[in-house]
Formats: sequence, C-alpha cells, structure tokens
Amino acid sequence: MNLPPYQNFPELSSDTLILRKIVEGDIESLVEISFYNALPALTVEDAAEMQERINLDYQNGSSIHWGIADKKSNNIMGTVGYYRGFKNGSGELGCVLKPEFQGKGLMTEAMKLAIKFGINEMKLRKIGAITSGENKPAIQLLKRLSFVKIRDLDDDEVEYVFVK
Ligand SMILES: CC(C)(COP(=O)(O)OP(=O)(O)OC[C@H]1O[C@@H](n2cnc3c(N)ncnc32)[C@H](O)[C@@H]1OP(=O)(O)O)[C@@H](O)C(=O)NCCC(=O)NCCS
Repeated sequence: MNLPPYQNFPELSSDTLILRKIVEGDIESLVEISFYNALPALTVEDAAEMQERINLDYQNGSSIHWGIADKKSNNIMGTVGYYRGFKNGSGELGCVLKPEFQGKGLMTEAMKLAIKFGINEMKLRKIGAITSGENKPAIQLLKRLSFVKIRDLDDDEVEYVFVK
C-alpha cells in the first residue's frame, strides 16, 4: 500500500482535466459544492474551514481530495477523492460537480483518473462508493465506470464496488 500523505501532492491529468490540490483562491468558487460529513457549507468561511479539515485528514492519512480543474483555464469544476479512511486496503470514492459542468462526461473522466491512481499508485485492493438509491446521476456514473451494486445500506443508501 502507498497511502497519503505523499511527499508531493499527486497531480493527475487527462487530455482535458487536471486533478490538483485545492488552494486558497479556489475556495470561493467551491462553496456550493463543499461538504464535510454530509453537511453543506453555507458561506466562504464554512468552505474554508471544511478545506482545513480535509487537509488535516490528508495529513493524517485518511483521505485524498482533488479539485477537478479545466486544463486550459485551471478553474475548478468539481471535486473527487477517497474519503473515510483506507481500512483493509479499501478506498471509498466520493465526487461532486458544479451544476453548470454536469452532463458533459467530466466526472466520468475524473473518476477514471482517481480509480487508476487508486489501483496503480495507492495499490488499493477494493474501491467502493456509497450513494442514495434515489441518486440516478450518481448511479448512472458508477455503472458507466463498471461499478456493481453489492448491498443496500440503512437510510436508502446503496454500496457499489469497482470491478476491473
Ligand atoms: C454524480 C454527478 C457527479 C454526476 O455528474 P454527471 O455530469 O451526470 O456525470 P458525468 O460528468 O460523467 O457526465 C455524464 C453525462 O454526460 C453525458 N456525456 C457527454 N459526453 C460524455 C462522455 N464523453 N463520456 C461520458 N458521458 C458523457 C452522459 O450521457 C451523461 O449524461 P446523461 O446523464 O444525461 O446521460 C453529479 O450529478 C453530482 O455532482 N451530483 C451531486 C453529488 C453526488 O451525488 N455525488 C455522488 C457521490 S457517489
């Protein structure tokens, strides 16, 4: 296993996207998609505080959170990462896109980068994702990426796992 934190924060890129570290100048544009423990940020201050907690989680080795940036403008369009620890070599992916960037295949591309990094670099043995059973876009995304449903959880949540 090769788990966070790393000497240099890993930057991942495709033809159109860069997955990169979130910096102070990104926070304002991230308020509407900032969450911590499923609670949303309401202000820039909330989002900044959440980012600090996310940075601590990275330093403690329990998560890695990337900003999804447009390769040309470097503007952040969403976030993706592994959250809630790496128990038994498994990672749990989470992701969110700002509404204006949805429906273009961007998260499919970002998740592919995060999955590849999880398998090849972190050496994860299992990659999972949990979402609400009502969350059609998330379920469509997971299926498109070859995740399969493994079980129903409490509160109408469902657990999916990536199958190579
Ligand atoms: C889940 C979420 C990220 C999915 O976003 P999305 O935009 O539907 O996903 P993608 O960026 O991969 O885009 C897929 C859409 O673009 C279309 N698309 C266009 N070009 C595409 C391409 N080259 N590749 C894949 N899809 C493409 C697909 O047809 C699909 O549209 P459809 O749903 O109308 O069929 C988004 O709904 C979101 O942020 N939700 C809130 C947070 C959340 O629920 N997170 C999930 C936690 S697991």
